[in-house]
Amino acid sequence: MDKLIITGPSQLKGTIKTSSSKNSSLPIMVATLLSEGTITINNLPKLKDVSTMTKLLKNLGAEIEESADGKTIFNTSNLKSYEANYEMVKTMRASFFVLGPLIARYGRATVSLPGGCAIGARAVDIHLDGLAKLGAEIELKGGYVHAKAKKLKAAEIILSFPSVGATENLIMAASLAEGTTLIKNAAREPEIIDLANFINKMGGHVEGAGNSDIIIEGVSSLNNSIQYSVIPDRIEASTFIIAGIITNSNIIVQNVVTKHMDAILDALKHMGANFKITHNSDSAINDSIEIIPHPSSQAVTLKGIHIDTAPYPGFPTDVQAQLMPLAIKAGTPSVITEHIFENRFMHVPELNRMGANILLKGNSAFIEGNTKLTAAPVMCTDLRASAALILAALVAEGETEVCRVYHLDRGYEFIDKKLTDLNVSVRRIPGGPF
Ligand code: EPZ
Repeated sequence: MDKLIITGPSQLKGTIKTSSSKNSSLPIMVATLLSEGTITINNLPKLKDVSTMTKLLKNLGAEIEESADGKTIFNTSNLKSYEANYEMVKTMRASFFVLGPLIARYGRATVSLPGGCAIGARAVDIHLDGLAKLGAEIELKGGYVHAKAKKLKAAEIILSFPSVGATENLIMAASLAEGTTLIKNAAREPEIIDLANFINKMGGHVEGAGNSDIIIEGVSSLNNSIQYSVIPDRIEASTFIIAGIITNSNIIVQNVVTKHMDAILDALKHMGANFKITHNSDSAINDSIEIIPHPSSQAVTLKGIHIDTAPYPGFPTDVQAQLMPLAIKAGTPSVITEHIFENRFMHVPELNRMGANILLKGNSAFIEGNTKLTAAPVMCTDLRASAALILAALVAEGETEVCRVYHLDRGYEFIDKKLTDLNVSVRRIPGGPF
């Protein structure tokens, strides 16, 4: 398995462009299953998870090809299978999202239960409860969901938790159901809005995405052939903004939708970070954020923070790990409490091996500030934990060996190149026993 060797401490400089969002691309790729048209997505990121999803959709019989100019063309008119097997779904939980569209369009689906993953049990009860309310007959057998429905019928669905995936699964299913569905307590993430915009462009009628109540007027078919561009990745943007702040560097992060990042930018400002936002008047070009370094690079200019992760628009769980190295460098202690996943602190023991002093009590991490980090061999355990280790390596003295970076490759496009473009001393060692 590949590892990255990063030599710190780093002084970053230059500009990077955020890629399009992994967590928008994946449900949008699944939503092509709803369409009878030819769908072109202009900017899918070159990520491991995107290629896994491509493989899954092709296994179902979707025709997917890459155009010379990097666009991806989908046609799902001739599916030959309605099954997403355990191998696929355990590799990537987002594979489970195919359940809703398959039932809605083809009346049947056999999808493996995702099972747990590194960060938590990852239940799917909210997905299944909603699909049952829409009239799907659901049977759980042998670790699989066996579902069928003559025709889904609209319903009022109240989610017990604003689950992102369940909201997406149910919006897709309701898009082809008979009647008008209301989803209450829906997730409000920007990726939900992107999916709704995509479905509407295909000919659907989804209203209110981004709010807790979403109304979906089902249609008999979705057959507009369309082109669509996915929104930028707010989590990747946050990661690189933190990279600039933690190394006290002057870098520019382009292709950012700052209104998707209020909670993150507020937290960074609260810690004492300084950045300049440029809003581009041309709506086709997104914002950019320039990190303004503190004049005296020696001074400890950041202060600690108390953060509770929450569903959007709260502080995102997907940036919790990346904030931790910044908290380690801040002049005063921090407390970060994780409310979304039950086991999302696996980066903590690795950071402590680099010299951090973080105490875990329940779902809170108590982080001592003003702590020096030194290089050490560290192990990636999940996608965002990997990003936290990269950020720590940027400020650690010496060569940090970050192992099992396949976790990172799932969600950060061309991470080596982007770090090199920012003047980071990084090299990838391919292969190896672990
Ligand atoms: C999406 O996962 C994202 N993944 C995650 O990003 C993100 O962390 C998460 O939303 C929360 O924002 C994609 O979009 C592909 P949830 P999802 O359903 O949909 C519980 C990353 O790093 N729950 O909102 O799986 C669940 O166990 C990834 O990019 C149920 O109990 O998240 C979890 O504790 C990681 N029953 C909480 O809700 C259900 O039926 C949030 O899960 C569904 C969820």
